[in-house]
Amino acid sequence: MQAKQRVLTGITTTGTPHLGNYLGALKPAVAASQQIDTDSFYFLADYHALIKCQDPQTVHRSGREIAAIWLALGLDTDKATFYRQSDIPEIPQLAWFLTCMTGKGMMNRAHAYKASVDENQRQLNSDLDQGISMGLYSYPILMAADILMFNAHHIPVGKDQIQHIEMCRDIAMRFNHTYGEHFVLPEAMVDEGEPKVLSGLDGRKMSKSYGNIIPLFAPADELKKLISQITTNSLQPGEAKDPDSCTLFEIYSAFASPEETLVVRQAYANGIGWGDMKGQLFEYLNDYLTPARKRYEEIMTDPAYIEAELQKGAAKARAHSEPFMQRLRSAVGIMSLVGGVETKTTGVKVKKELNQAEQAKVDAGKAKAIAIAKQRVQQEAQQVALEVEALVKTIKSSSDPKAASEQVLRALQEKVGGAKKKAKKTLQQTLELLKQQLTH
Ligand code: TRP
Repeated sequence: MQAKQRVLTGITTTGTPHLGNYLGALKPAVAASQQIDTDSFYFLADYHALIKCQDPQTVHRSGREIAAIWLALGLDTDKATFYRQSDIPEIPQLAWFLTCMTGKGMMNRAHAYKASVDENQRQLNSDLDQGISMGLYSYPILMAADILMFNAHHIPVGKDQIQHIEMCRDIAMRFNHTYGEHFVLPEAMVDEGEPKVLSGLDGRKMSKSYGNIIPLFAPADELKKLISQITTNSLQPGEAKDPDSCTLFEIYSAFASPEETLVVRQAYANGIGWGDMKGQLFEYLNDYLTPARKRYEEIMTDPAYIEAELQKGAAKARAHSEPFMQRLRSAVGIMSLVGGVETKTTGVKVKKELNQAEQAKVDAGKAKAIAIAKQRVQQEAQQVALEVEALVKTIKSSSDPKAASEQVLRALQEKVGGAKKKAKKTLQQTLELLKQQLTH
């Protein structure tokens, strides 16, 4: 189909990306976008955000922050296609096609939905679906639309998203089976090496839901404060410490080179104090993050620039999604009534040849439509003429025709301003004609 491999991933625009997101998703994605043999598609999943977050301010701000972060990390938007999900109207359209190809039973098994049901069960709610929206329930279908819209091959995601990619494949297979080969079956790209989950302030996995995160671009003083809150044990300076069970060391080594890490490992054996270690971690991270943080802060003051980048990305994305959606629409039988239906196996639109009688019918249909439209225009013109005639009569028969004409014109002008499309056009015609007649 297409020669280059396509890599696609989205970030839900709720909350602020943290160090764990940076290492696990952002950094590898920016690196992957530099490879010449891949086309990368990265997007802000703002429709997904609505599932979790009903605060418009947060959704809006988070979109801006996350876009600024990608740009500050040096994503090359000429090479990668970087866009906002909600700028691509074909995505929700495709989501509906896919919804009709998705077994309800499969959605019953989706992790996010099941976790919510389990929670209701735990709380002894008699309604196990309490508080669960259709958005949450159908979330994997929207995600499948994100992926299939661009026929992406590889989807870099965290382990928690693997099931969604499996579901996406399943849905794509069903669609292909029903309507012909339109979709590539995507594969999850999960980085198995290294401990990919970074620990947070309290030693549990760094996650917004635990409230234990270090935001990627926290200002230096906040970064310092957060690092000072990282949980350690009660060992005193001078006592040897175990680096491998320590969050400070874990974060340090996730950013530092192997050589630098080795030096710090030695310092643990030599009994470095927690205060010292926290200071070192802060210095290291702050040096590492400062250049990108500076760019981030600059970019955040320039929403017009961010918006322009997103618009550029939307245009690039829609160059794919528009024609593809057109093809998918005709594949399912939604298209102009004039012309044929795409045949199932080829996946290529085949226009049915019309014979003479059919062609004549089509032509007659067109001619009739044109005649009706012409007639309507004539009727409208007639109505306008009658209206104007009446107005002119009233004006001429009034005691002060000049004042009356001014008043009528003003009233008409006001009406034009407030009117909707079609009425506006008619009123405008009336006004023009009246002016003409009054000046003659
Ligand atoms: N569901 C993903 C998450 O919460 C975000 C996402 C939305 C996504 N659409 C996607 C990821 C498509 C990969 C591909 O992390």
